[in-house]
Amino acid sequence: MAQIFPSWTNKLPLILLIAVIIGGTGKVGFFYYYGSPEFTDVGYRPEQPVEYSHKLHAGDLGMDCRYCHVSVETSAVSNVPPTSTCMNCHILVKADSDKLVKVRESWQTGKPIEWTRVNKIGEYAYFDHSIHIDRGVSCISCHGNVAEMEK
Ligand code: HEC
Ligand code: HEC
Ligand code: HEC
Repeated sequence: MAQIFPSWTNKLPLILLIAVIIGGTGKVGFFYYYGSPEFTDVGYRPEQPVEYSHKLHAGDLGMDCRYCHVSVETSAVSNVPPTSTCMNCHILVKADSDKLVKVRESWQTGKPIEWTRVNKIGEYAYFDHSIHIDRGVSCISCHGNVAEMEK
């Protein structure tokens, strides 16, 4: 009678073991590298055209995030405020400050300030702010304590 298992099947447990080891290490390595804070740029703080400080405005002055990021509760995208929002105060507050030259220029010319974008998820993913905010997820859970950030 012919044998049901040919003799090479004796090596099967060994082959499986090796496959599991290689596969397992590969997977751990993949997430270790591509999920690492270095790869995902945690703490990325670009130089911005204006030395705007969240710590001063949202922290020390205690402004609500939504005063500037108005659309965060109602839309998928959270906006960055237009110059007019800044000028609500800076038409009077520190009206001659050197640090605000670009803000006043933008106000006079109508050209928006070119802020460098910080957070960007992959093109393949869709993210909706309002859904998260309406269910009570705080800005801090995702963005960290922005009110403590100078940049
Ligand atoms: C006075 C207006 C103002 C207030 C108040 C404010 N922000 Fe901002 N925010 C800005 C401006 C201007 C920028 C763009 C410059 C920058 O990135 O620093 C910005 C950028 C951001 C970004 C990065 C956007 C990107 O490019 O990915 C996040 C996140 C953010 N703000 C969260 C918050 C949170 C959370 C609060 C409340 C604790 C807050 N902001 C309060 C004006 C404001
Ligand atoms: C609710 C009022 C208010 C709004 C809105 C506001 N600021 Fe301010 N800002 C202040 C106050 C108050 C100070 C601190 C003034 C002081 O140091 O006495 C300040 C200081 C600053 C300074 C430092 C100026 C200096 O000479 O030290 C910068 C830069 C600045 N703000 C940028 C912005 C930008 C950009 C926006 C819009 C995204 C903005 N601010 C919106 C109230 C505001
Ligand atoms: C569940 C996580 C989460 C929460 C909560 C959250 N954000 Fe975001 N935020 C993100 C992600 C992800 C992005 C990048 C979105 C993209 O690339 O489409 C982002 C982007 C932003 C941007 C930049 C938008 C742009 O187009 O430049 C701002 C400003 C911002 N968030 C402000 C806020 C504020 C203010 C709050 C609290 C009211 C908040 N976020 C709460 C995850 C979150």
